[in-house]
Formats: sequence, structure tokens, C-alpha cells
Amino acid sequence: MSDQKGNLLGRRNFLKRSGLAMAGAPLLSMSGRDVRDASPTEDKESDFTFVFMTDIHIKPEMNAPLGFQMAIDKVNTLAPDFVITGGDLVYDVMRGNFEKSDGLFKLYTEMSKGFEMPVYNCIGNHDLFGIYEESPEDETHPDYKYGMWQRYFGDTYYAFDHKGWHFITLNSLDVTDNKRYKGFFHSEQLEWLRDHLEGVDKDTPIVITTHIPLLCTFSQLYGKEGSRTANNGAEVFEIFQHHNLKLVLQGHIHWMEYGNANNRVQFLTGGSIAGNGWKGRRHNTREGFMKIMVKGDSFEYEYVDHGWEAERLRLAAIKK
Ligand SMILES: [Fe+2]
Repeated sequence: MSDQKGNLLGRRNFLKRSGLAMAGAPLLSMSGRDVRDASPTEDKESDFTFVFMTDIHIKPEMNAPLGFQMAIDKVNTLAPDFVITGGDLVYDVMRGNFEKSDGLFKLYTEMSKGFEMPVYNCIGNHDLFGIYEESPEDETHPDYKYGMWQRYFGDTYYAFDHKGWHFITLNSLDVTDNKRYKGFFHSEQLEWLRDHLEGVDKDTPIVITTHIPLLCTFSQLYGKEGSRTANNGAEVFEIFQHHNLKLVLQGHIHWMEYGNANNRVQFLTGGSIAGNGWKGRRHNTREGFMKIMVKGDSFEYEYVDHGWEAERLRLAAIKK
């Protein structure tokens, strides 16, 4: 396996489901605005690899573009079929004025053209334009909240198929009355999700991506301060109860975590690209991303270090 040094847990997480081999499982043929077909002509039964990269927090300062470019270069050497991002693409537009915020999205968009494969983006709290009291903009601005993200990337929740697996990116964010962000799946989206799943075969392995975690041990480990899961995550699981929800990909916490809930749902919290605001590790988690290897109806993963920590320390030593 390539990049063994990036495998934090040092073990394989290969969970094989019996009786549901992918051979013969139908590939979904969905239509409508919410489906983006990543592989219309490819062999549906073959294994594949994808990358989950979260909390990029791109900004012009702190050598952040260099760090992101290193991640892009590393991904290109690994040549996955596609990349899924986990939100917080930029840092940040919650408090920002239009020009600065738009510049951050432009920077992200320009840099992410460097990926040599499709990129499926997810929205994070730092991507919500003008939602904080201190922002000079408000809800009258056309780019308010989800608007700027939508202008650059389209719908904030959508689905696509790849080689017999079904991927759904969700929008896990809303705004409170007192102008803070909250982890929440709004009702319009949950309605869409219910309708959407009616067209998805019960046995099809499903991966969902959410910025705010649905499942996370952070709160248990660190107490109240770390209550970092979505308010109504149970509603999401309820919607999936008769489907084969295989894996939940999560961002936000900037740490690396794998979990297996009762052999029913597995989850990966994907570390981060930015660490602690590009200053170093957050929660002692190295900067990196997840490489996920799908094999039939199962998957393995490893956390890949793209070399930013070493480069950051080298640059800091030169500066002294
Ligand atoms: Fe973040």
C-alpha cells in the first residue's frame, strides 16, 4: 500500500458485508438536477479509489496556497477517480465583505483547477457569506449565506453515482436567529433526500458527505466545549434506515477519526488541510487527507500526509 506513513490507525478497515456482492447490483440511472454522473461509460464492477479532503481554509496568507498546492500535487500522484471536499473551502466569508470573500472563492476555484480529476465540493460554516453580525453584508445580498457558494459550485446538496456506489453531498448548515452558524439539515433538503432515495436501490452502497459531523467522539472526549455534531443528525439516519448507508464522510473538527456503528454505518472524520489556521496541528492532528479504496462492497482507507507539516517547519526554521 502506498503512503504507509499516512495510515494513522495502522490497521486495515476492511468490512466485508456478506450476501450483497456488487456483481449484478444495478447501477442507478437517475435523472434530474441533483445527479451528476461521474462515470457514465466505465466498468461498474471494478474497484476504485477516491480522496476525501476537508477544511482547506484557503486564504492568501500563511503560505496557505503553497500548502493547498502540495495537497493537490499529492492527490494527482495518487490519481484517484475523483475528489470529494468536506467544506470550509475558504477562510472565511462569514464575517467578510463582498470583495474579499469573492476573492477567496476565486482563489479556491482557480487552485482547484489543478486537480486532474473531478472535484465534488461540500459547503462548510466558513463558506457561509455574510451571516455574522460583524459582516458589512446581510440577508439582502444575493450571495448571502449559501449564495456565494452556489454561484461558484451549484447546489449545496446533490448526488452522483460511481461504479455501483452512490454518493450524496449534504448541506449541514443553517443560521441561528442571533446570527451564528449551526449544524442543521433544513427540512427542504430532508424532503429532497427522502424523494431521492426512493430511486436508489436498497442494496446500493451509499456514501454521504457532511461538513458538520453526524457522529463524532470529540464531545465525549473533550466535554461540552466540543459539542460539534449536527442538531438533527438522527433525522438523516432515519431517512436512510432502509438503505445501505455504508460510510459518512465528515469535516469541521480538524481531526482524524474512524468509527463503526454496530457494523451498520462507518464514519470517517477527515483531518484537515489547514490544521490550526495554517499555524500547525489542531487537536494534534497532522494536516492531511483521506484516500479511500473501494473494493467491491467494502472499503479501506488511509490518512495521507502531503508533506505540509515538514514544509511548514522548514519555512519556520528559515524565518528564525
Ligand atoms: Fe474548518
